[in-house]
Amino acid sequence: MRKIIIDTDTGSDDAVALVMALRDPSVKVLAITTVSGNVPMQQATYNALQTIDYAGTYKPPVYKGIAKPLLCELEDATQVHGKDGMGDVGFRAPVQQPESEHAVDALIRIIGAGGGDIELVTIGPLTNIAVAMLQAPEVMKKVPRITIMGGANFYSNPHTPCAEFNIMADPDSAFLVFNFGVPITLVTLEACQTNQAPLTDDEITSFRAAGETAAFCMDCNHTTYDLAQKVRGYRELELPDPVAYAVFSRPELIKTSFTAQTSVERGGTYTRGTTVFRKRKYFFETEPYQPNSTIVTGVDGPAFKKFMYELIKD
Ligand code: BDR
Ligand code: CA
Repeated sequence: MRKIIIDTDTGSDDAVALVMALRDPSVKVLAITTVSGNVPMQQATYNALQTIDYAGTYKPPVYKGIAKPLLCELEDATQVHGKDGMGDVGFRAPVQQPESEHAVDALIRIIGAGGGDIELVTIGPLTNIAVAMLQAPEVMKKVPRITIMGGANFYSNPHTPCAEFNIMADPDSAFLVFNFGVPITLVTLEACQTNQAPLTDDEITSFRAAGETAAFCMDCNHTTYDLAQKVRGYRELELPDPVAYAVFSRPELIKTSFTAQTSVERGGTYTRGTTVFRKRKYFFETEPYQPNSTIVTGVDGPAFKKFMYELIKD
């Protein structure tokens, strides 16, 4: 069984990814660590605990992480995910409480005690991971791979013309993580958008009917698909974090990807948070070419939806 820690800024699509992970028989979630992003960290923590309750399986410990990006101010995504990050539905309150240990300390302790087989799945800004790498580099080198929902290849994010939210929200932390040396699978926005990965109006309705947990997964996203209705004129639901989780759990779902030496633009009036992909060494370059990442740009949409449906239904 694969062992993971999920780092999340729990908003509505994070919630679906958490449900999937907690119900995936091939995976054990050792811990959930929270970070500011979609919503401030305290709210993300509450949402993660709430989600564990609705997933209805086991209850991994939840650790509160860093409340502020490394060097910049937090820009949240409540305009997409609702004021509470969960569609402002008013789901029942969680019973489980967060742990008292800090998320960064928990990451270092759990990975340090492990046998080099604990993977990270990150579905929010990379602040906790970067700080853990700064604090305990030798321990964090034991992580065999990080699957990151983040970055964009050709897609333009509404926040800025060329960056995706998770990277843009804390580009300095993302820069540190990409330059640290642990192999990365980066699931970009393109992978979540193209190849029919978004749920259609009919699929939202039919998934919703598949039990309490499935209804929770759809309803918490209603501000997201309502926004699609407003902006595009039709209801659909993009689910970046569930696609990233699916890529982690079922890599055979990847349809298009490439290998790159990836870094992150930290400055720039227009380009802050852009993921920069160096795909090969050019003859005039003197610095070595050191690929650090697999960049996923497309998935098998129907197979992703089937995988998700099987996990969230009752
Ligand atoms: C990412 O940002 C958030 O809106 C989602 O939760 C996802 O992690 C997509 O850009
Ligand atoms: Ca997220």
